[in-house]
Amino acid sequence: MTEIEQILSTYSQKFNAELERYFPKTAAPEHRAMEAMRYSLLNGGKRLRPFLLHQTASLFDVPYETALPVAVSLEMLHTYSLIHDDLPAMDNDDLRRGKPTCHKAYDEATAILAGDGLLTYAFEVLNSAHITDAKKVELTLMLAQAAGAKAGMIAGQVLDLYTDSHKLHANAEDIIKHTEELKTGCLLRYPCEAGAVLGNATKEEKNLLIKFSRNLGIAFQITDDILDIKGDEKVVGKTLKKDKAQHKLNFVSIYGADKAYEIAVDLIEEAESLISTFGQKADNLKNLSRYFLTRNY
Ligand code: IPE
Ligand code: IPE
Ligand code: MG
Ligand code: MG
Ligand code: MG
Repeated sequence: MTEIEQILSTYSQKFNAELERYFPKTAAPEHRAMEAMRYSLLNGGKRLRPFLLHQTASLFDVPYETALPVAVSLEMLHTYSLIHDDLPAMDNDDLRRGKPTCHKAYDEATAILAGDGLLTYAFEVLNSAHITDAKKVELTLMLAQAAGAKAGMIAGQVLDLYTDSHKLHANAEDIIKHTEELKTGCLLRYPCEAGAVLGNATKEEKNLLIKFSRNLGIAFQITDDILDIKGDEKVVGKTLKKDKAQHKLNFVSIYGADKAYEIAVDLIEEAESLISTFGQKADNLKNLSRYFLTRNY
């Protein structure tokens, strides 16, 4: 394990224990969706988004506990996006985080409700944070926008589903960038921006972190798409080699894995240099960016 993988693993263990507290075990029939939410949320996951949030917040010395509910709410929202992404009407996947997808472990209706439940619970948890009301309002709006259908994750999922790699797109690269910035980038931008908000960052610092996160978002989706064709299914924990069959338009489908990887490397190198101004405090963020290129799941 590399040093950053070790740091991430220690972080995840602590974070997972916190997540548990939001889902007391219950056998009540009305809590079937709660049970499914718990199943998907606590079933592995790299916890990259909460880690990013905590790391950006720590650039400004924000205490771990202060940022925690904000990080938890983001992981809830991200997990909802995965549950719905796996549904038969979307990517139709049976495996997630090494386990049966939510609709396989439960049923489709429960998976839809579990997704809805995580989305709404996310906002409840975010608003339980011990931060000023002004910050709550700002973060609530930011999270709604990052997840939304206007210029957020949902808009990206729409593009992902309704563009086709088999059709000729004159401006394929623009469409891909736009799709990835929305479907993946928005939920990676949010933690960087939220960390800045929590830490009362200056406008310049915030803009820098937003730029950094844009590169991360595209690079992260490129490695996800490379893993789809080259990854080891047992390690990745998802059914692979599906993007081509589903005609997904992405950097790998238009340029091939090698060229797509080069694009990701350039983006990560630029991302690293962008945050150099934070000095040693940004070491974990830099190493995390590098890890985006070398990850095998
Ligand atoms: C998967 O995200 C969805 C994409 C945006 C590619 P992650 O690879 O972060 O999934 P988990 O949370 O670790 O399962
Ligand atoms: C999903 O992208 C991004 C989301 C918004 C959930 P993918 O469909 O490529 O993610 P995986 O490969 O299923 O994790
Ligand atoms: Mg998808
Ligand atoms: Mg998918
Ligand atoms: Mg994928």
